[in-house]
Amino acid sequence: MYEALLAPHHTEALDLPNRVAMAPMTRARADDDTGVPSPHAATYYRQRSGAGLLITEGVYVNALAKGGPGIPGLVTPEQVRGWREVTQAVHAEGGRIFAQLWHVGRMTHPLTLPGAVTPVAPSPVRIEGARIHTAEGSLAHVTPRELTAGEIESTVKDFAAAAVRAMAAGFDGVEIHGANGYLIQQFIAENTNRRTDRYGGSLEGRLRFPLDVVHAVAEAVGPERVGLRVSPDNDENEIAEADARTTYRELVDRVEPLGLAYLHVLERGRYGAVADLRTRWSGTLIANHNGPAASDPVAQARLVAEGHADVVAFGRLFMSNPDLPARLASGEPLAPPPNRRVYGGGADGYTDYPTAAQAKFAAV
Ligand SMILES: Cc1cc2nc3c(=O)[nH]c(=O)nc-3n(C[C@H](O)[C@H](O)[C@H](O)COP(=O)(O)O)c2cc1C
Repeated sequence: MYEALLAPHHTEALDLPNRVAMAPMTRARADDDTGVPSPHAATYYRQRSGAGLLITEGVYVNALAKGGPGIPGLVTPEQVRGWREVTQAVHAEGGRIFAQLWHVGRMTHPLTLPGAVTPVAPSPVRIEGARIHTAEGSLAHVTPRELTAGEIESTVKDFAAAAVRAMAAGFDGVEIHGANGYLIQQFIAENTNRRTDRYGGSLEGRLRFPLDVVHAVAEAVGPERVGLRVSPDNDENEIAEADARTTYRELVDRVEPLGLAYLHVLERGRYGAVADLRTRWSGTLIANHNGPAASDPVAQARLVAEGHADVVAFGRLFMSNPDLPARLASGEPLAPPPNRRVYGGGADGYTDYPTAAQAKFAAV
């Protein structure tokens, strides 16, 4: 049933034994003071290294990019050392792992940021209808401060510097997080980008920061080591894109010639982004379906079999099924998506999900 997902995928940039990627998932278990990944992170990712490609949780690229307690970074030498343990553990099992580079923009709170400073964003547009998780519980959002043009340029450099550190930490590549209403999508969407300078206004202006980041990261580490994740028409985190089709066609057309490792499209909105963007993207396309229920392997396998995607990413099912590709191959039943300790804590709910074989022996 899952043959399409179990076939290898080879390009100049990627050499994947199967088409089942692990989607990036924040688990909020890093040391909150140092941003060093959890001591259990190497085990967690190693357990899942049967994935065609592992993509880490979002990792902050500078101090203002951090979205909440327990998020890891790629800024300090200690953080690089912590990630090196993760990449070595994955490589020892024959796996491949990309680091997801993340700037949350307005999706954070002064309590999460050093010196309790105000979060930054393209424009001072506050999230009204949701609260934000902090070390002191869930609080109302504050109005973010508008980034200056100089700060935007230095943020572009921070993405590139974090990508270089990811290479030093032994990652096979990086994924730029352009999805889910974080800083990059805040620049793309009209309702969160009200700037009148060169970083706002027209589509050209709203795409300037995202494209500058992609170019800078690709130049820093080589385009074949860079993936880009987007979520066209995603209304999460109070994003409203007036014309996602035109916007993302333009973005993809501009990125296409660079020869990136992949484009990762999160399908959620009313616009059929995966099918539409597939026709404009000659490289590897990773698809992920974002909805209330965990991605359905049957539907995802169909996307690959029908040529809409080369690889599909699974999030929640990979948390509870560390050996997900092996289970799809053997037909072993899948464990349901997790319902405990998704965020924060130690090994509980993180590294204690058994493989199918371990579950069978445990039952004896
Ligand atoms: C606990 C959790 C944390 C997530 N963290 C991230 C993240 O750090 N970066 C990101 O791009 N997406 C993140 N996502 C979204 C997932 O990558 C994925 O798009 C979503 O879970 C839908 O796929 P699924 O149905 O296979 O779980 C997260 C999802 C979950 C459930």
